[in-house]
Amino acid sequence: MLLFLFLLIAQHSYGKEIEETLDAADLIAYYGYPVERHYVTTDDGYTSEVQRIPRGRDERSIDGCSKRPVVFFMHGLFASSHEYLFNLPSQSPAFVFADAGFDVWLGNVRGTEYGLNHTKFTPSDPSFWNFTLYDYSHFDLRQQIEHALEKTGHKSLFYVGHSQGTTVMFARLAEADAKWQSKIRMFFAMGPTAGFLKPLMPFTLLERDYLQKLIQFVLDGRFGIKPVMVPKDVTSKIVDFCSTKILSYFCTAGLHVALNLESLGQVNSSRLPIFLSHFPSATSTLNILHWMQIFKYHELRRLDLGEERNLIAYGQTEAPKLDIKNIVAQTILYFSKDDQITDEVDVREIIIKNMGPGLIENYDLDHFTHADFAIGLRATDEVYKPIIYRIYKELKLKGC
Ligand SMILES: *[C@@H]1O[C@H](CO)[C@@H](O)[C@H](O)[C@H]1NC(C)=O
Ligand SMILES: *[C@@H]1O[C@H](CO)[C@@H](O)[C@H](O)[C@H]1NC(C)=O
Ligand SMILES: *[C@@H]1O[C@H](CO)[C@@H](O)[C@H](O)[C@H]1NC(C)=O
Repeated sequence: MLLFLFLLIAQHSYGKEIEETLDAADLIAYYGYPVERHYVTTDDGYTSEVQRIPRGRDERSIDGCSKRPVVFFMHGLFASSHEYLFNLPSQSPAFVFADAGFDVWLGNVRGTEYGLNHTKFTPSDPSFWNFTLYDYSHFDLRQQIEHALEKTGHKSLFYVGHSQGTTVMFARLAEADAKWQSKIRMFFAMGPTAGFLKPLMPFTLLERDYLQKLIQFVLDGRFGIKPVMVPKDVTSKIVDFCSTKILSYFCTAGLHVALNLESLGQVNSSRLPIFLSHFPSATSTLNILHWMQIFKYHELRRLDLGEERNLIAYGQTEAPKLDIKNIVAQTILYFSKDDQITDEVDVREIIIKNMGPGLIENYDLDHFTHADFAIGLRATDEVYKPIIYRIYKELKLKGC
């Protein structure tokens, strides 16, 4: 039996799916789409690769638009731009949008496999990992969007985010003036996350005071500013192990338990090796602590450094609030009560109740887990295509 399993695994290592071995840009080219790699360096020195699919395979454009409108995607926590490329071209949002006539841009934040370059530090320096989601929002997201607008000559773009990819846009819009917000013509938020009401393990295990002590520890350098990542050789072993047909059932069951997924019914489990070859990506310990605070505070704030350090960093004893009331950019939410991370109650109580005039529509979907918004097979018809038709409607009504 063991020998049999070994043979199955060995056989797979020779027959690795090509999609497992390609980076995002090469994968896009592999499926026959034009692709560009853009390198955006932020004011604080991080360079990340942003991939662009300037048009779809049949070069379709949108009636009445002289230039293809830009749709910019930002990925979630522990993911990278791959999350928009994981399924087949007829299913994955990056390809579906390109084929629908859009100029597609795929952002990446620092610390992911596309963001390991800094003008002064290397990933082996603790200072490289001295960031949280606020920095993703204030530097990576903001400057990558400005870059896409500059390169295309557009004044505004359409934005699609998933999970932390929505959080960073909520944070950005909350602190941006109306002029910057006008760069975001519409903000589509899938599995929107701006705070939590329910306890979610393991983020809520720590008492607030204890969490603050831990943060002081990290800031003092006693625990270390470090990356949080699963070493590549571990993921590749899991990938090899899970890649055979029989074992993939066990791995699916394992993921089911590990992620507490209500249902994996929407996920194409034969693509699990492809998902795992580019997931999870790294983030920083500080970002995880920032997320733990967001769980505790039920709202978005900058990282709470403790009173003394807050006073130095922010000029006030409390961590500044990132108030989503300030958002005027048109925002549309897609969420589900079956999302085990940010459920219907979180979305209604924390986002819908507190948002200002920006919130124009929201859709409560049946049976979408958090991951389904990126890799679920029903997402193409129930989320991505409705977003495309909504954008067409906007373009028709108000021009390109
Ligand atoms: C890092 O960025 C610099 C310029 O910003 C570039 O010259 C260099 O090639 C990049 N290195 C990698 C590994 O991407
Ligand atoms: C991290 O950043 C803060 C402020 O941005 C700075 O005070 C601190 O020295 C930095 N720590 C490291 C290890 O780079
Ligand atoms: C699932 O993925 C496999 C392998 O890439 C593919 O051949 C199959 O068509 C996909 N199934 C569905 C329903 O999309």
